[in-house]
Amino acid sequence: MEDKGRSKTEVFRQLKIFKKKDMTHLSGKILGSMCTCPHPIGLKAYHMFLESNLGDPGLFKGTKTMEKEVISLLGDLLGKQDIYGHIITGGTEANIMAMRSARNFAMEKNPKIKDPEIIVPKSAHFSFKKAADMLCLNIIEAQLDNEYKVDVNSIKELLSKNTVAVVAVAGTTELGKIDPVEEISHICYGNNIYLHVDAAFGGYSIPFLTEMGYEFPKFDFGLRGVCSITIDPHKMGLAPIPTGGILFREKKYLEAMSVETPYLTEDRQSTLVGTRTGASTAATWALIKYLGREGYKTVSDQCMKITKLLYNGIIESGFEVVTEPQLNIIAFKSKKVSVDELAYKLENLGWAVSKSSYPRAIRVIVMPHIKEEHVKVFIEDLNSLDL
Ligand SMILES: Cc1ncc(COP(=O)(O)O)c(C=O)c1O
Repeated sequence: MEDKGRSKTEVFRQLKIFKKKDMTHLSGKILGSMCTCPHPIGLKAYHMFLESNLGDPGLFKGTKTMEKEVISLLGDLLGKQDIYGHIITGGTEANIMAMRSARNFAMEKNPKIKDPEIIVPKSAHFSFKKAADMLCLNIIEAQLDNEYKVDVNSIKELLSKNTVAVVAVAGTTELGKIDPVEEISHICYGNNIYLHVDAAFGGYSIPFLTEMGYEFPKFDFGLRGVCSITIDPHKMGLAPIPTGGILFREKKYLEAMSVETPYLTEDRQSTLVGTRTGASTAATWALIKYLGREGYKTVSDQCMKITKLLYNGIIESGFEVVTEPQLNIIAFKSKKVSVDELAYKLENLGWAVSKSSYPRAIRVIVMPHIKEEHVKVFIEDLNSLDL
């Protein structure tokens, strides 16, 4: 650190240099991210609540009230209004919280469990590996069927007396697939096993698309075996980063991981982090109120229509789509060059694509910042590769 501070002009001049090196969502070139341009209403609300700390909610009673309302609104969207939860940093934190609750709850109920296990689909996000590592859980992967959804029989075979949680995904990270949650819920409910649904990606679009007539399997609290759901406002919810959500069916699941907080305005705390921003809550609240169901339906429907456009363009250009998209994610490959080579060629043309690991393919997420004109240029570029 320098002894003397620099002028404001100088500090911001240098910040602009860093900023210039960043990509922007608005450019339409970011094709491999589940984040997007934050909506201006969310940004305005976020700025208003920058000093609010939900880690000490007694000091920020307005924000706390807002968080309760947001959780109940998200619950309402996902099949149960009277639920419990928090607005946190994202899907990773939400999944870790869910696994922590499940482990504590199961081990409290059954002290004979000495070697707790979680069963997660092979397609589950890597945050479950972090959760297993932090919480000393064995992570066991359930196999996928030929549409890359979890194979229910594989879950059944893996259940054991040490299983503390089963995970299903509604909108997988790599391919946007929705697991057969209804069947899994049935199994978990019957065996008294905690079921967590990771709808970090799909939670903000499946309900709206379903209302518009798209057909999706059930995945939410309407299924009695579902104990918790991850839903990320900073993905399809258009909220600024970092904004995640964790919802629990019953208060006992939050209580299973609460600790005493002697010096704060509330006696107990269940979140992983202590100090946490109220700004994310304000942004989520403002966007739900401003956009309403109609606004979010338009956003999700638009993404699905552009996905279809991209899908057709990819096929017409002679590339191979590895599986029929269920949500706004497409994975494809070339019949002539490897996935790495194709990715390299696309990167050279300025596109930030990502690669799926299973199956290996180029992965494009059609987030709200991807417009028709971007897809047209992308398809032209695919054709120019002459593959
Ligand atoms: C299904 C799913 N769950 C969890 C996460 C992790 O979310 P975050 O990066 O916000 O922690 C992701 C991220 O892409 C995801 O796709």
